[in-house]
Order: sequence, then structure tokens, then C-alpha cells
Amino acid sequence: MIKKIKGTNDIIPAQFTDDIFAVEKWQFIENVIRECTLVYGYSEIRTPVFENTELFIHGLGDITDIVTKEMFTFEDRGERSLTLRPEGTASVVRSLLENSLHRKQQINRLFYIGPMFRAERPQKGRYRQFHQCGVENIGDSSTQADIEVIALFWTILHKLGLNNIELVINSVGCPVCRPVYNRVLKEFFADKLEHLCSDCNERYEKNILRMLDCKNEKCQHILNDAPDIQGSLCDDCSGAYHRIKQQLTAIDIPFATSSRLVRGLDYYTQTAFEFIHNGIGAQATVAGGGRYDGLVESTGGPSLPAVGAAFGIERLLLAMEAEEINIPEPAAPVFYLVIFDSDFEEEALRLCYQMRSKESYVELGAAGRAVGKQLKSASKSGAHYAVFIGGEEWQDGYVLIKDLVETKQYKISREGVTSEILLNWFENKK
Ligand code: HAM
Repeated sequence: MIKKIKGTNDIIPAQFTDDIFAVEKWQFIENVIRECTLVYGYSEIRTPVFENTELFIHGLGDITDIVTKEMFTFEDRGERSLTLRPEGTASVVRSLLENSLHRKQQINRLFYIGPMFRAERPQKGRYRQFHQCGVENIGDSSTQADIEVIALFWTILHKLGLNNIELVINSVGCPVCRPVYNRVLKEFFADKLEHLCSDCNERYEKNILRMLDCKNEKCQHILNDAPDIQGSLCDDCSGAYHRIKQQLTAIDIPFATSSRLVRGLDYYTQTAFEFIHNGIGAQATVAGGGRYDGLVESTGGPSLPAVGAAFGIERLLLAMEAEEINIPEPAAPVFYLVIFDSDFEEEALRLCYQMRSKESYVELGAAGRAVGKQLKSASKSGAHYAVFIGGEEWQDGYVLIKDLVETKQYKISREGVTSEILLNWFENKK
């Protein structure tokens, strides 16, 4: 049998699985995301799952782990290099420019939900095809926009019932002050390289800020002593960082600060943040984001400020599992039509079709199957009422209806029994 690719998952009906890959759980999260993004004024955008490779190399940074090690890149038949999107921001910016959204509206608020692809080593919370919900606010340079994105994510987390999530923030500076900080780090680490891991040594040469993200035990005591970026921030960046902290406090969103939070993508400027859940294992970052004021311009557009973030939906579900949050039960059928014998099949089909057209959730038994077995299936489906099409009562001019929840039964005249009669009967019962 051909099996699915390592690091990918099937999302199947809940009746077949208890884990996070039950489709009803995904639908629940997606509904909450849609409700929340709506009240924050965000519109959905859907971009292709593959793009020109260049878009990501340019956008995410040619020395980031994602670009150097994790992209699914292939050549198409015309020998063009294409890549399965490893994240959504670069594509949203490309689409914004290609469709001139920025010319039609000063601030664009966009969200997306969809699969992303990274060739990482699979483990709990880390997959090769995973799913993100992301939001992007493009065109607003004020810290209000940063706060809006953080508050929107906070709202979603609370609507999902999650309580044990920590928001961590930092400022990663801008093209004016980051080089200053990079020089401070260069000097600090220069005589310590032999005590640091090979990743750190590589990052020292290529992307020194990322050294702060090293998780290797033996590097921690040195990294913890590294100078904070705060001492190097320019007035603009330190003013913005101060306002972010003040405004988060004003709206009662608790946060911690960490000067070691640097994110894995090169496009960030100023605000960087992550939402962490400590009950889901090593892959504890449920969401991450920040400001990226240079990306629109470097993608070929005008200089436009922007801020955004993305959740990993699998990690959200792991966090819900860790906090034992159950999603509401999926709807059950109202009626289950039990067919006495094949002579009544057409009558039952007619009723069933009419009732479904009126948006009533109806299930239909299989004509020819024993009545007892059909009733068992009716109970298993969770249906409220079993409606008998055929049988003794039918011959006497009635339709027998069994209330499967309260184990009662009713008879209604079957004279010209129609979906209206059944549905009216149900309405009156409510
Ligand atoms: P990111 O931190 O690379 O940021 O990913 C965001 C979230 O996606 C992570 O916090 C995590 O929950 C989830 N995630 C990432 N990789 C995996 C994986 N291999 N398996 C499962 N989940 C994963 C971005 O992608 C930015 N585009 C976010 C952003 C939007 N920044 C500004 N706007």
C-alpha cells in the first residue's frame, strides 16, 4: 500500500480518531479564527501554495535556516525553480503588490489559513506539511497596528479557551541600529567561539543575531551573558518598544520580555513576539510574528510599513489537548427515516429529499436492511427521532415517530404525509 509522506497528516472525521487530526477540531478552530478576524476587520486572502523560489530567498533571507535547509524546491517542466510556500507573509506581500491592493486602500488587513511546507525533522508539533493561520496588517506604521495583531491573537486564544499561553516580546531593531548591535555581539563573542557549538560558529559569520536563538545546552551560559539589544536601539526603535509595552499594559494583555527572542526570518524590524505554551513539548511556540517594515519595498513595491503573525494550527490543537479543552459535539441528525421494506423506498426517498432541501439534517436507512439494524444505526448516529416509513401504523393511516432521546413515541396522521407536516410537528414539539 502506498503510504502518506513522512511529516504529513490526514485530517479525518472525529469518529475515527481522538487525536488532533480530527476534522471537527480543525473546523472549530477555523470558525473561531473567522469570527475573530471579522470583528477586527481582516479580510481573507488565498494565495497559491507554490511560488517562484526567488520570492522566498529574497523575502525570508538567503541565510535563514528555512531558505538554506528547509524549502521544498523543484523545477517545473519549463526548468523554472518553484517552491512550496514555507510561510505566508512573502506570498501575501507579492499578491498585495501584484493586485495593487496598496493603491486602493491605505491600510490592508488580511488573513489566511492554509498549508505550509518545511523539510524539518518531524516530531510532535513539527511537521513537513503544517497549517498556519496568519494575519498581515500592511500600511500602518503606528504601534497601534502591532497591538492590534497581538490583541487579535490573544482574542483567538481566549475564544478557544486557552489559558496557559505566555506572550514574549522583544525589539530586533532596524537597519539603522541592528548593525550597531551586530558589532557589539561580534566583539562580545570574538574570544568565546571555541566554547560555542558549530551552529553558533556558523551564525557568527553569517547571521550573528541568530546566535541568540541557539538551544544547545553548552552555549547557554555564554549566550545569557551577551549584551542586550536594548542598549543599541536607536531612538525610533526604543520609543516604539516602550510604547508597545505601555499599550499592552493599558489593554491588560500580560507579557514577558526577552532580549534573546530574535525569530528565524530576516524580514523583521522592531517588534518581534511569540506566544508560548509550556505543556506541548519542545515545539512550544504556538505563534510568532512581528513588524517587517522593509519587506514590501524589497519585494519590488513602495516603502510600506507592515506587521503580522501566524499561528501553527497543529500546535494550537496540541495546546488545547494539553489543557483538556473539548470542542462542542458535532451536530447529530434530527430525523432518521427507517424504511420498512423496499416498497416504501421511494416514499422515504421523497420525504428525505424534501426535508434536506429545507435544511433539516436527516439520515436515511437502507431499504432492505432489517428494521432493528436500521434502528441501531439511528441511535448510533445520535438522531433525535426515528420516523417509520411503512409498518403496522402506516397501514392504519399513521406515521410512527420514536423519540430516541427520551424513549417516547408519537403517531401522526400520514394522510398525504409531507416534509412540511413532519417539520411542523417537530417545530411544535420544540
Ligand atoms: P514562524 O515563526 O516561522 O513565522 O511560524 C509561525 C508558526 O507556525 C510557529 O509559531 C509554529 O506554530 C508554526 N510552525 C512553523 N513551522 C512549523 C512546523 N514545521 N510544524 C508545525 N508548525 C510549525 C512565520 O511563518 C511568519 N510568516 C509569521 C508572520 C506573519 N510574521 C509576520 N507575519
